Amino acid sequence: MSHALQILPSLLAADFARLGEQIAEVESAGTQMLHYDVMDGRFVPNISMGVPVLESIRKVTRCWLDVHLMIVEPERYVEAFRAAGADSISVHQEASPHLHRTLGLIRSTGAKAGVVLNPGTPVHSIEDVLDLADFVLLMSVNPGFGGQKFLLSSLGKIRQLAQLRSQRNLNYAIELDGGVDMTNAREIAEAGCDWLVAGSSVFRGESPATSVRELHACALSGRQLSA
Ligand code: DX5
Ligand code: ZN
Repeated sequence: MSHALQILPSLLAADFARLGEQIAEVESAGTQMLHYDVMDGRFVPNISMGVPVLESIRKVTRCWLDVHLMIVEPERYVEAFRAAGADSISVHQEASPHLHRTLGLIRSTGAKAGVVLNPGTPVHSIEDVLDLADFVLLMSVNPGFGGQKFLLSSLGKIRQLAQLRSQRNLNYAIELDGGVDMTNAREIAEAGCDWLVAGSSVFRGESPATSVRELHACALSGRQLSA
């Protein structure tokens, strides 16, 4: 899996009435991956977008579509999201009693498979499936809403995952989601994060394109420090 540094604009924070336009804006700033949040009002206390919206987005962008399933029984929807255009699909450890099987199912569709950890879930809980994960997504807020404050405890988890990856000679990318902005992007990348998801800090400011560029430059300076 590519460990190239990426800023993934989270479409949850976009203006849904102007989705195509907003996607074109962030693409013009070099965005290669978009983050797509699926919420069911059960696993998390909010409802967002589903399969049909992803299908429409697939038609207007060549970006990698990273689908984050915050739903109960995520295995039931893997094939539908893949068919709608998902390039990667992640499921929560907390929602997946048969994580090993579900990651295998995602890979069998041809999508890259990710496992997600809530802030309250330790890294050791996924140690036995790391060889089946193409990426690990760390939540740095409690999932369900955009615009929440970044939880510092996620930095230690990034370091733990980076260490495990080199110790075991694994290849997963490390992704982080929640509260990413210009005040912390550098530190997050320095800790070893490859993919930084950013919602409010990209779409709720004056210019999404400028914000993507600035976040990328900021994260790049952190990555150079860690090299
Ligand atoms: C939260 C979602 C995030 C959200 C991040 O449950 O998984 O992807 O869009 O939004 P910000 O960047 O505003 O915290
Ligand atoms: Zn997300």
